Amino acid sequence: MSIAMDTSSIKKEIERLKHERQALILAHNYQAVEIQELADFRGDSLQLAIQAAQVTAPLIVFCGVRFMAETAAILNPRSKVLLPAADAGCPMADMISAEQLISFKNQHPGSPVVCYVNSTVDVKAESDICCTSSNAVKVLQSLPADKPILFVPDRNLGSWAAKQSGRQVITWNGYCPTHQWGFSLEDIKALRTQYPGFTLLAHPECDQAIVEQADLVMSTGGMMNWMQNGDKAIIATENGLTNYLKHLYPEKSIVTLSPRAVCQNMKKTTLENLLQSLVDLQHEITVESCIAEKARKSIDRMLELSR
Ligand code: 13P
Ligand code: SF4
Repeated sequence: MSIAMDTSSIKKEIERLKHERQALILAHNYQAVEIQELADFRGDSLQLAIQAAQVTAPLIVFCGVRFMAETAAILNPRSKVLLPAADAGCPMADMISAEQLISFKNQHPGSPVVCYVNSTVDVKAESDICCTSSNAVKVLQSLPADKPILFVPDRNLGSWAAKQSGRQVITWNGYCPTHQWGFSLEDIKALRTQYPGFTLLAHPECDQAIVEQADLVMSTGGMMNWMQNGDKAIIATENGLTNYLKHLYPEKSIVTLSPRAVCQNMKKTTLENLLQSLVDLQHEITVESCIAEKARKSIDRMLELSR
């Protein structure tokens, strides 16, 4: 299909096809405003995983990145899961392979492994329990304190959650390029001066030096909740969330800590490829059943803690 349609016709066609195909659109909080507006559910990684597991619709269109769609496919084998932008990956997830994790485990025999949900299915399958940014502290606290815990791939989330939980953690040296390089201490100094009295909310994927300066550290879902009552915030996470918050609350004072914090992968979903995915049912995300079964154990163990 050649798409030479204006924006409003594309949106109407997405709505029509969504209805016809009985599809549900899930969108991560970093997606562009026009994509989030069309979604049936928006949320952080944990909220979207819980939602995907419960969906009864035959078709889930996942507006996010590959590991999120894979998690949905693992949790909900009854629904077909589509990722409109086939090449929307997560560079942090690719910073550790299953082989590297196996050798990390061999260096620390007996240590349990926590994997951030931003990881490949093969890594999840080699891990004991999964976590997201909203439950990492709880997940660490659920593990015995007698051995150091291996945390992959995010060194920033792992270090922050270790401090919060009081657990000894050995982190893999991975990071999210957007959160690692998107913000600086100079940005904080400048915005604190420009916006006195604002609360600085930071995502735990940010560098530890940024996290230490934050007033509150939380997942994207936590930030969405906080803004329901808060009214003056500086936000240190990917800019899609800040844009959506500004769209939701035009009367509130919401500023991004830095316009550099953009995840190119999250921006790969467009109205055009969302429509195309509903037209030709592309790109289906499937996970080989024996890997899915192993990965599911680590995800289910995390979900048990969230009930
Ligand atoms: P959360 O939405 O779970 O906080 O995760 C942020 C993220 O970077 C997802 O890629
Ligand atoms: Fe991965 Fe960072 Fe993009 Fe999230 S924001 S998908 S962690 S690269």
